[in-house]
Amino acid sequence: MGNGFKSMDSFLIHGIKNRKNGAVVQPIVPAVAYAFPDHDSAIASVSGKQEGFYYGRYGNDTLKVLEEKIAVLENGEAALGVSSGMAAISTALLAFLQNGDHVIVTKDVYGGTYKFLTTLGVRFGISYSFVDCTNLSSIWDAIQPNTKAIYIETPSNPLLTVLDICSISNITKELNIPLIVDNTFMSPYLQKPIDLGADVVVHSATKYLNGHGDVLAGFVVGKEETIHFMRKNIMGDLGQVLSAWDAFLILRGLKTLGLRMKQHCLAAEQIASFLEKHNVIEKVYYPGLNSHPQFNIARKNMKGMGGIVSFEVKGGFQAAQSFLNALKFIMISFSLGDPETLIQHPATMTHSSMPEEERLALGITDGLVRLSIGLEDVNDIIQDLEQALQHIKEEEFKWLIV
Ligand SMILES: Cc1ncc(COP(=O)(O)O)c(C=O)c1O
Repeated sequence: MGNGFKSMDSFLIHGIKNRKNGAVVQPIVPAVAYAFPDHDSAIASVSGKQEGFYYGRYGNDTLKVLEEKIAVLENGEAALGVSSGMAAISTALLAFLQNGDHVIVTKDVYGGTYKFLTTLGVRFGISYSFVDCTNLSSIWDAIQPNTKAIYIETPSNPLLTVLDICSISNITKELNIPLIVDNTFMSPYLQKPIDLGADVVVHSATKYLNGHGDVLAGFVVGKEETIHFMRKNIMGDLGQVLSAWDAFLILRGLKTLGLRMKQHCLAAEQIASFLEKHNVIEKVYYPGLNSHPQFNIARKNMKGMGGIVSFEVKGGFQAAQSFLNALKFIMISFSLGDPETLIQHPATMTHSSMPEEERLALGITDGLVRLSIGLEDVNDIIQDLEQALQHIKEEEFKWLIV
């Protein structure tokens, strides 16, 4: 680990600091403009001959410390901090794709990424193929002469499909194109895609990296040269920089990333086993379950199985709705990775932009819900789930006796 620490836990607390006046925590530097001692320094800074910031749309001092920390955590050369996960994803894709290019994308990708490619990307002449990336020959079959990148998410949102980053990176290396991996569900605490062969990692830092549900942010990690290009020519021009205030909050949140991820994983294992045994549940998706189709790849690539469990209730939309409405403290909400346990219904929420036929073909059924396990006592979470699932049974029984 960086800064001479043996463990990531210590690095998360002490690693990379640019403290002024002995301050124990990283100071916030909110300045937008930076002044120069003379005109020559201004010219050198703008031309890139001299290091440092001249205008806040390209970065700020607080963010710089955070970017260095994220780069070390992901074992990349450099990182770029942006204003949301979608800003990170769009910046990464636009850095490698232009008019006339094609990208291969894993089929069950985050709904926002799907929407970006199917609506905005096509307006700029970028074509795409959604492919079952668990099957390497399907990837080879989808390659076109103009394929310029492969984009995957593992585990995926919301079905927790796990992909073999190593084998997919062998394909991208052979084709000399980049492999971009969305590592949001794992965080660098549980999985390091660059070590497994990826070229670029993207994050929605809105989730586990910040971990407190009070910041929208994203990161791109990769080679120094690539990140420099993104900063100067995409992020800066589109105006997607992460503010110093938000960077500070993420620096604070990161200190407990290890503690949080360990607790999320422990609770998720218990909750997934509880759900798997429940008689109103049709199917549970969690990489830590023996029944998960990519259980062995998950064990090989991931240090922990994460805090997201998706499951399908028997009885489709009606049953899912009565279950959601019966929950007491678990909140119906879009995000994930927060201290609060959050639940959502992909078909009508995160993946509502997907045509029904396509959504159902992927397995995102009307009875599917995605649970982001928080940091509450696991017994309280199970109790809330149990009483709400009981509600489905009662609803079913009511129909039977009418
Ligand atoms: C896997 C994944 N990637 C990217 C995003 C987009 O992140 P943001 O909402 O920060 O733009 C999300 C949001 O839920 C996500 O779940």
